[in-house]
Amino acid sequence: MSDAKTVKLVDESSKTQSEMPLISGTLGPACVDIGTLYKDTGYFTYDPGYGSTASTKSAITYIDGDKGVLLYRGYPIEQLAEKSNFLETSYLLLNGELPNKTQFASFEHDITHHTMMHENLKFFLRGFNHDAHPMAMLAGSIASLSAFYHDKLDVDNPEDRKLAAIRLIAKMPTIAAAVHRRSVGWPVRYPRNNLEYVTRFLHMMFEVPSEPLELNPVAAKALDLLFILHADHEQNASTSTVRLVGSTGANPYASIAAGITALWGPAHGGANEAVLKQLEEIGSPDNVETAVKRAKDKNDSFRLMGFGHRVYKNFDPRAKIIREMCHKVLNELGVKDPLLDVALKLEEAALKDEYFVERKLYPNVDFYSGLIYKALGIPTEMFTVMFAIARTSGWIAHWIEQHETPGSRIGRPRQIYTGADVRDYVGADKR
Ligand code: CMC
Repeated sequence: MSDAKTVKLVDESSKTQSEMPLISGTLGPACVDIGTLYKDTGYFTYDPGYGSTASTKSAITYIDGDKGVLLYRGYPIEQLAEKSNFLETSYLLLNGELPNKTQFASFEHDITHHTMMHENLKFFLRGFNHDAHPMAMLAGSIASLSAFYHDKLDVDNPEDRKLAAIRLIAKMPTIAAAVHRRSVGWPVRYPRNNLEYVTRFLHMMFEVPSEPLELNPVAAKALDLLFILHADHEQNASTSTVRLVGSTGANPYASIAAGITALWGPAHGGANEAVLKQLEEIGSPDNVETAVKRAKDKNDSFRLMGFGHRVYKNFDPRAKIIREMCHKVLNELGVKDPLLDVALKLEEAALKDEYFVERKLYPNVDFYSGLIYKALGIPTEMFTVMFAIARTSGWIAHWIEQHETPGSRIGRPRQIYTGADVRDYVGADKR
C-alpha cells in the first residue's frame, strides 16, 4: 500500500522542507500521508467538508466519480443490480466475497431467525406521538436496542460483532414497519418468516388483520433493487458518522443510530423525501422553468433536490438504473403519476442548462427513488427510512471493518480557531 514515492512540502516562510509518503490503494488516486505533519512541521491541514481528505482505508466500496463507477467489493453495481439480491449483497459487503449456496442459506437462516423485535419495543414506540417523524422514531428505537441486547455488546468480541450485524439487518425492516404502523394507528404486524426479506417487509408494512394482502411481485423486485443500490456508498456522511462514533468504542446500535440521524438531513438521505415534496410544489411541467431559474439564483436558498453529488461529476450510476426501473414499475403497476412528467421535464431542463452542465450537476440516486416508493404506496415521510434499511448493511460492514483494523484510533479532527484571544474575566457589574 505504501509507495516508495514521496511528496515534498516546502515551507517558504521558514525555508524548511519535509517529505511525506504517498499511499496508493488498489484503485483511485494516491494519497499524501500527512499523519506526522503536525509533529514534523507544527502545521495542521484545512479541508472543510473533507473534499480532499481520505479518512480511512477501506476494502468495501469504490467510487470513481468522474467515470460514474460504483463497485461493491469489486463488483460493478450494474451487475449486482441485475443478478444479485439485497441479502446476498449484504453478505458480500460484510464478508468480502459472494456466498456459495450453503453460506447464503446459513446467512438467510440467521437473518430470518432474528427478525422479531423485543415485545417491549412496542411500548417504547407507543410513547411517541402518532405524528412523530418516522426517522425520529427509527433512530430512537435503534439506539434503544443497546438497552435490549446489552449482554452482547463487547465490541472487541468478533462473535458479538457478528451477532449485532445479523440483528440489525434482520430487525431494521420489522422496526421500520412498526414505526409506519405507529404513524397510521395499525397494530404491529409480526414478521412472517416463511417469506423472503423484502416481501416480508412489505407484508409487515401493509397487511391489515382484516384482510389478506395481494402483493404484485413487481413491488418486491423494485424494492429489492432499491435496497441493493442504497446498500453502501463508501465514506458518505452517515457512514463516516458511524465510523466516528464507532471509533470511540461505542456499541454498534448507538453507532448505527448516529448514522440514521446523519442520513436524515436533506443534503444526504433526506433528499428522497425532499425531492418528492419539491416535485409536488412545482406541480406541473409548466412551472419547471421557474424552478430551474430559482435554483440558479445565488440570492435564493432554493436548490434542485435530487441533483448534484459531492463525488459524482458524471451521471450517478445508481440513478441510471433507478430511472429505468421507475418507468417499468409505474407501467407494470398501472400507476399514472403526473409527478413523473414534472420529473422528466426537470431532468431535461437541468441537463441542458449551462449552470448545471458547468457544475456537473446530474440527477442523483434520490431523484427517482421517491417516485418508485410512492408507486409502491410508501408514504413520503417513510422514504428516508427505506434508505436506512438498505444502508444498514453498509454501515455495519464499515463498523466491523473498523474494529477488525489493527491500530484504529479515535477520530478527532482539529480546527482553525477564530474566536477571541486570551482575555481576563470581567465581573457582571463592570460589563
Ligand atoms: N441545485 C442548485 N445548485 C446546486 C445544487 C443543486 N441541487 N447542488 C450543487 N449546486 C451548486 C452549488 O450552489 C455550487 O455552486 P457555486 O460553485 O456557484 O457556488 C456548486 O453547485 C457546487 O455545490 P456544492 O454545494 O459545493 O457541492 P457539495 O459537493 O458540497 O454538495 C450536495 C453536494 C449533494 C450536498 C449538493 O449537490 C446538494 O445539496 N444537492 C441537493 C440535495 C441532494 O440531492 N442530496 C442527495 C445526494 S445523493 C444521496 C445521498 O448522499 O444520500
